[in-house]
Amino acid sequence: MTYSRIVGMGRYLPERVMTNFDLEKIVDTTDEWIRTRTGVERRHVVEEDQTTSDMCVESAKSAMDDAGVTPADVDMVITGTTSPDVVFPNVSTIIQHRLGIPACPAFSLEAACSGFIYALTVADKFIKAGEAKCVLVTGAECITKLLDWGDRNTCVLFGDGAGSAIVVPSAEPGILSCELGADGQYRELLHYPVGVSKNLAAAGTDEANIIMQGNEVFKVAVKTLGRIAQAALDKAGVTKEELDWLVPHQANIRIIQAMAKRLNMPMEKVIVTVQDHGNTSAASVPMALDVGRRDGRIKEGQLILMEAFGGGFTWGSVLMRM
Ligand code: COA
Repeated sequence: MTYSRIVGMGRYLPERVMTNFDLEKIVDTTDEWIRTRTGVERRHVVEEDQTTSDMCVESAKSAMDDAGVTPADVDMVITGTTSPDVVFPNVSTIIQHRLGIPACPAFSLEAACSGFIYALTVADKFIKAGEAKCVLVTGAECITKLLDWGDRNTCVLFGDGAGSAIVVPSAEPGILSCELGADGQYRELLHYPVGVSKNLAAAGTDEANIIMQGNEVFKVAVKTLGRIAQAALDKAGVTKEELDWLVPHQANIRIIQAMAKRLNMPMEKVIVTVQDHGNTSAASVPMALDVGRRDGRIKEGQLILMEAFGGGFTWGSVLMRM
């Protein structure tokens, strides 16, 4: 049997850091409120002229170095993002061109915070079908460009970044199971109401802002993530006691703690970056995985559960051996 395996990871975070104290100067909030309600202490924010592809190119280079592959080896590029550079060409083709990756399928996936998990799942299927041999999978967001810096309900939560993985076929696992899902009935709870074929005229006005009913999102997120974590484990015939690491979407420390509790995992077995990154949407899971790998906590052969939840709602989990 052919598995797909992550053999290299990389991340890029913009240089500019905004702390909670910086936000205190902009909106009616406090460091204490943000830390206790969300776990966020600081976030990285792109410069005005910095784009999603700028970040993807850096994280992809780092992942290729880590995997020991060159652009010529890559035969598919998939990027999960809801904040691409432009409407088209899609951001994966921009990355492909900038890195000198030869002609191959290159496309983006729009699944909000679940973007990387969706993209990795697609890569897994192409590899298992024998149609790809080296896939560059990235989750990336310039989500701060969508924020209204006057809205304390949302501007304190998010940050920018990109995380990339190189995924190749392997006789050894590898990805053991993937679980994806979505339920559009929840769209109003978390959405951005301005787009290309709807409300385009409102771009740049007060209407263009992330709209979120935080506590409702919170409840559905915890319930759904608990269910899909178990589903991913059941599908692979693995028990939660066997897990070495949980690498969750970094939206809120309280959601992460609730998930760890459901899985009977001590927080020492959970990779947490929300304090340093904030919620970076599709970039959150791959950047957390990269942090855990590079600081030596996550080791080859260990069993890892990744999971994400985002606007739509969309959700997904991937169980894999590193
Ligand atoms: N600073 C200070 N006060 C704030 C604030 C801020 N940045 N943002 C909101 N508040 C206030 C609210 O106005 C409200 O005041 P009120 O009681 O006078 O009306 C109070 O804090 C409590 O708001 P509430 O929304 O009930 O807080 P909460 O405990 O639910 O925490 C979130 C808010 C957003 C942190 C939390 O609901 C959350 O993280 N939800 C999940 C969001 C998420 O994960 N989104 C992305 C999914 S991918």
